[in-house]
Amino acid sequence: MRNPSPSQNAEESHASSPAKLTSIQKEAVAKGIDLNALPHHVAIIMDGNGRWAKGKGFARLLGHREGYRTLRSALLNASELGVKYLTVYAFSAENWRRPEDEVAGLMKLIETAAKDELRAMHQNNVRICVAGRIDHVPEGLRKALLHGIETTKNNTGITFTLAINYGGRAELVDAIKAIINSGVPAESVTEEMVGQHLYNPTHPEPDLMVRTAGEMRWSNFLIWQSAYCELFVTDVPWPEFSKKELLEAVATFQKRTRKFGAVVE
Ligand code: FPP
Repeated sequence: MRNPSPSQNAEESHASSPAKLTSIQKEAVAKGIDLNALPHHVAIIMDGNGRWAKGKGFARLLGHREGYRTLRSALLNASELGVKYLTVYAFSAENWRRPEDEVAGLMKLIETAAKDELRAMHQNNVRICVAGRIDHVPEGLRKALLHGIETTKNNTGITFTLAINYGGRAELVDAIKAIINSGVPAESVTEEMVGQHLYNPTHPEPDLMVRTAGEMRWSNFLIWQSAYCELFVTDVPWPEFSKKELLEAVATFQKRTRKFGAVVE
């Protein structure tokens, strides 16, 4: 991220005076976006790095490196727009099936990013969280993530969650194990209780899920939490995802009627 911007605080940013709006907020307003009805929690499946690289004759890892650059600007844009939670799928529990050199390269890239970006993220008031079985990621990466979480735990700007070695089914299995271990009788188990045993129980559920590179799948991402979230799929591969697609996703979100199973007249 770049260094502190005038406002990282959604409440401040929504002030009525246009002069107080960040540049992306001004663009959003010009596109008809209502800053008081932004998605609270945006989740992103960052897909298409490999295809983007292949299309340009590059190695797949170069696609991931470009994906990292995109992620930096997506975090800054989401934060300056006023989104309060951004969760990204950086490495799934299934991604270990990829070639060894790609897995090692991705782990190293995420570790380098976690170290290199920490200072700027902290200055920008970003709170870092992770989702996933991080006990099983390489030690250097695990330490960098835990250090980032600890350093930024009291920050009040956007909450940025990296899903690493994450699987939605694995998260549910971990929640069920924790509930059983707590000794709760089966008949007392409730949906709220499951929610309280997820990796980040205080995060609101995502209300907008963005997927790049055109696939119409959830891919085991936040499957419990996204029960009622709106899906926005763009054909643009992740390395080319820009402010334009983010605003398009938000504008589309605002046109949807959210019914949560009820009837809305
Ligand atoms: C999916 O594209 C992308 C991933 C599995 C990794 C996402 C990683 C990044 C964006 C790199 C930076 C991340 C951090 C946290 C610094 P794909 O390789 O499956 O694309 P393909 O379907 O075209 O092959």
